[in-house]
Amino acid sequence: MKKEYHIAVVGATGAVGAELLRVLERRNFPVLNLRALASGRSAGKKVQFRNKPIMVEELGENSFDNVDIAFFSAGGETSRKFVPTARKRGAVVIDNSSVFRMDSDVPLVIPEINGQDVKEHHGLIANPNCTTAVALMAIYPLHRAFGVRRVFAASYQAVSGSGARAIAELKNQVEAAAQDRQSPAQVYPHPIAFNVLPHVDVFLESGYTKEEMKMQNEGCKIMHLPEFRASVTCVRVPVYRAHSVAVSAEFEKKVSVEQAREVLAKAPGLELVDEPPMNRYPMPLNVAGKDNCEVGRVRLDCALENGLAFWVSGDQLLKGAALNAVQIAELL
Ligand code: A2P
Repeated sequence: MKKEYHIAVVGATGAVGAELLRVLERRNFPVLNLRALASGRSAGKKVQFRNKPIMVEELGENSFDNVDIAFFSAGGETSRKFVPTARKRGAVVIDNSSVFRMDSDVPLVIPEINGQDVKEHHGLIANPNCTTAVALMAIYPLHRAFGVRRVFAASYQAVSGSGARAIAELKNQVEAAAQDRQSPAQVYPHPIAFNVLPHVDVFLESGYTKEEMKMQNEGCKIMHLPEFRASVTCVRVPVYRAHSVAVSAEFEKKVSVEQAREVLAKAPGLELVDEPPMNRYPMPLNVAGKDNCEVGRVRLDCALENGLAFWVSGDQLLKGAALNAVQIAELL
């Protein structure tokens, strides 16, 4: 077995790609050589890795020669086109797009939940949707204790989930508003500053968006629970970083807040922050840049039979993307 690996990061100049470089560095991943790949627009730019500049190369057919592990985070179209190339060249791909997530021969993995599924891979492992990942970090341990049936949830999703251009769009609109100017909406269909958009991803015929259905579809696969149901409203909010999800979950077994808190406090990758009288609960500003997700506001759900309501926040660039991807690579 090799001790150090040739790594490629596709989308190295993007919001997730930049985070991937930092996580590989911070977790001391055994990187022998790192290839930073992006579009032709970025070719020749430099990214920093271990205090050294690395030249960004344009992604192409020959980008994966000698690469052991390729992280993809450059959007669905790029994954659709180049993941097969990377696999053919012998790289194991960890893909952050939604393109292959539901394919039956592609493991979809959150290491704290179904790390063992990594063993079934055929050169490609999918990283889950960011909101799904953050919510499941709390839903899954509760499922193990009480058996989850269904959840109702609303997400509060940060703009960094839409990439670097969306971060700039919020910043520009906030600055413009302070000067009584307007800055146009380009990434989103409406202004995102001082607004909330009940619209993440494309609308389906059912009236849900694609993003909203990911919690049910991906949740079933990750938890190995085909009967899991999730009705979700995904909302984009003017927060730079970290997603939050308000969840009401119904369980098979009788639940109590004390037991739930005990389960959540012990769950890997999760911290219980639940002291409402002290104004202590999870918030995006507190989890931004943090590996662990936080859960709080745990209470009996007054509208469900065996139900719990709770609030989860997590850095979606980390647990929802870069950190989870590197944890998968560590399992490999
Ligand atoms: P580039 O910076 O050259 O456009 P974000 O999610 O922050 O918007 O980042 C998307 C990432 O995906 C960027 O690194 C971007 O590179 C990369 N990317 C976008 N389109 C392509 C493409 N067609 N080929 C390769 N990389 C791409």
